[in-house]
Amino acid sequence: MSDSDLQIGYQDAVPLACETDPAWLPLALERFDEVLCDHAHCEKKAASQAISFLATWPEKVRLVQAMSRLAHEELTHFRQVYDRIQARGLVLGRDPGNPYAKALRKQVRADNEATRLTDLLLVCALIEARSHERLALLADALPDEDLRQFYAGLAQAEGGHARLFVQLAIQYDERNEALRRLAELSTAEGEILSALPVKPRIH
Ligand SMILES: [Fe+2]
Ligand SMILES: [Fe+2]
Repeated sequence: MSDSDLQIGYQDAVPLACETDPAWLPLALERFDEVLCDHAHCEKKAASQAISFLATWPEKVRLVQAMSRLAHEELTHFRQVYDRIQARGLVLGRDPGNPYAKALRKQVRADNEATRLTDLLLVCALIEARSHERLALLADALPDEDLRQFYAGLAQAEGGHARLFVQLAIQYDERNEALRRLAELSTAEGEILSALPVKPRIH
């Protein structure tokens, strides 16, 4: 499959099984400093995950091209968030871990390399899609115009990353079942999110 084929492969927003709890946005706005610090950790982990993909599957050309670009972009996002953390006089603490991402990663079928790659790509797609949803909520509601524009730009970028991960899953899935598996994992993502308490974090 060529890059041009991939451009028309999956253009729609990556579907989420449920919307974010309405209680999340007021809490996120009230405790925005905590959201900002969690967001920095999310961007750092996105960059780290992109590097992990190209380190694990260096023979997959399109994956390496896409992940090297993505790692750079996510680290730029980290720096942009970190600059805002510093401007507010905050100190970024140690990463407390992310129960949402941990539970979602448990859905990855590790029985063979092919299903592992498909599931990892799709889990990343769903995390990006959830980021897109929540960053867009912040972009609409934050009182500060600079932050609204910042989050609107990031929401758009993460939505694009979600589609990229789905395109890659479709390209590399040997059983041609990536979209069926995406639907399954999307249901699991909704259940995982709904079972967790609402907190001032990106997820
Ligand atoms: Fe990002
Ligand atoms: Fe992203």
